[in-house]
Amino acid sequence: MKVELYQATDENPNMKNYDEVYENFDWDEIKENFSWSKTNKFNMAYECIDKHVDEGYGDKDALYYKNGDEKSSYTFKDMKEASNKAANILKDEAGVEKGDRVFIFMARSPELYFTLLGALKVGAIVGPLFEAFMEKAVKDRLENSDAKVIVTTPELVDRIPEKDLPNLEKVIVVGKVEDENHLDFNAAFENASEEFDIEWLDKEDGMILHYTSGSTGQPKGVLHVHYAMIQQYISGKYVLDLKEDDVYWCTADPGWVTGTSYGIFAPWLNRVTNVVVGGRFSPEAWYGAIEDLKVTVWYSAPTAFRMLMGAGDEIVKDYDLSSLRHLLSVGEPLNPEVVKWGMEVFNLRIHDTWWMTETGAHMITNFPAMDIKGGSMGKPIPGVEAAIIDDEGNELPPNRMGNLALKTGWPAMMREIWKNKPKYDSYFIGEWYVSGDSAYKDEDGYYWFQGRVDDVIMTAGERVGPFEIESKLVEHPAVQEAGVIGKPDPVRGEIVKAFIALKKGHEASDELKEEIRKFVKEGLAAHAAPREIEFKDKLPKTRSGKIMRRVLKAWELNIDAGDLSSMDDD
Ligand code: WTA
Repeated sequence: MKVELYQATDENPNMKNYDEVYENFDWDEIKENFSWSKTNKFNMAYECIDKHVDEGYGDKDALYYKNGDEKSSYTFKDMKEASNKAANILKDEAGVEKGDRVFIFMARSPELYFTLLGALKVGAIVGPLFEAFMEKAVKDRLENSDAKVIVTTPELVDRIPEKDLPNLEKVIVVGKVEDENHLDFNAAFENASEEFDIEWLDKEDGMILHYTSGSTGQPKGVLHVHYAMIQQYISGKYVLDLKEDDVYWCTADPGWVTGTSYGIFAPWLNRVTNVVVGGRFSPEAWYGAIEDLKVTVWYSAPTAFRMLMGAGDEIVKDYDLSSLRHLLSVGEPLNPEVVKWGMEVFNLRIHDTWWMTETGAHMITNFPAMDIKGGSMGKPIPGVEAAIIDDEGNELPPNRMGNLALKTGWPAMMREIWKNKPKYDSYFIGEWYVSGDSAYKDEDGYYWFQGRVDDVIMTAGERVGPFEIESKLVEHPAVQEAGVIGKPDPVRGEIVKAFIALKKGHEASDELKEEIRKFVKEGLAAHAAPREIEFKDKLPKTRSGKIMRRVLKAWELNIDAGDLSSMDDD
């Protein structure tokens, strides 16, 4: 395979020489950038916001919010006061204490950021949820984590099954309140004090709980701690290349780890102006935001870039995008066509970054200061050791495909799978964390993504677990059994495809397909609804009754299904 090497061209990146920094890197030296290195008092929200006010940067813009024609901006001082108010509401009116789980279930708005930071100031563990979640998805997550409080909006409040959640003590609504048991956030905010004594924590105290999907079982709660900040800060500097005057936009929703680690923590730890764009995706809204807010550093995902690409290059000419200086991507393989399009349209190279919910921060990336090999995910960030290992944990030589693994002990690593120690333990072979991705490393130390080892579906950059969808599908009265796979798709990476065997007495029809799709969409989440459904008389299963998704995938792709010895063929 011919590999093109692109020379690092950025004039002035925060990191000048990757090899030198990598070899001499020491996490201990990074600690000096945090106030806790002197006080030993930890709180992510303090380091993101209040610290900058205390150091004389209170008037600097922290947040630009844009949703259509609605626009607002908040300085670090504004953010400090607003998050203090939110913290007071959570503590005084909802009884939140250190370690309690507080969920935030709303579309992106300034209040989402106030309450998230406020919850951290109280010492709570925050669980951010996508606004797309329907009742079952909300219930599973709140139930699993014994959530005490949820903050939401009038549009979403009906999706919280309060009667099924006995431990949920308070529902806080940002907007018009219909139920007298719910707390009116806006009214409380008017009266709340701007002063708050931050709950000081230990570096290992829980901070954020992101639910993510695996190939088996319900979504799992990945717990990160306050200490993760040290890696989020330094990757913000070296990989995002954030500098004092940057206006930074990460397009991810905080329901996804990218929307917190890199949509909240990394930019604010680096004291950079952070852009949040509300509302639905459209090329006009996105290009308009870049032009209007003069975005300099932009972090998005291949699906979004492909959607912009699909909108054509003509529309780009209507906008002045010359403020952009650094582009990044995460979530799925970054296709060469997309990189090529980026070069043509923005005259900038899109930098790929690889990491996972479980890793909490960047792991393998393309640095502005590094020569790039097109198609490679890049190299490990300083302080992180990666390798390709076999199933026994032995390191494989260059150019051999195997499990992409990381040496345990990086600061942002998850500390727990909520209430599921066996699941947590299953990630590790000896001192290696095994990612579930297969990849190889070339002789120059660059990593090349090859695919998932398991059945996890990546659709439009979101990780969807087939099990959760299958479980929902079999709740439908016509469905006997269901197997779900990711089918390759040129725009979305993969789409969700379901194979379904119907119960006796039900006829296959297009109407039924539509009905089943709607059932998942309204019961679980829109992105989980199968875009394609195929009815089968029976599904391939192991003798122990497990649906063999591998065989479904082989049917779909018209390839050999491999070893079928465990298949039940009666
Ligand atoms: C995939 C949180 C190819 C991968 C950020 C990983 C990628 C999973 C890349 C994690 C990339 C992420 N190239 N694949 N640059 N980045 N992935 O936890 O399979 O939602 O294991 O992402 O996304 O998904 P998660």
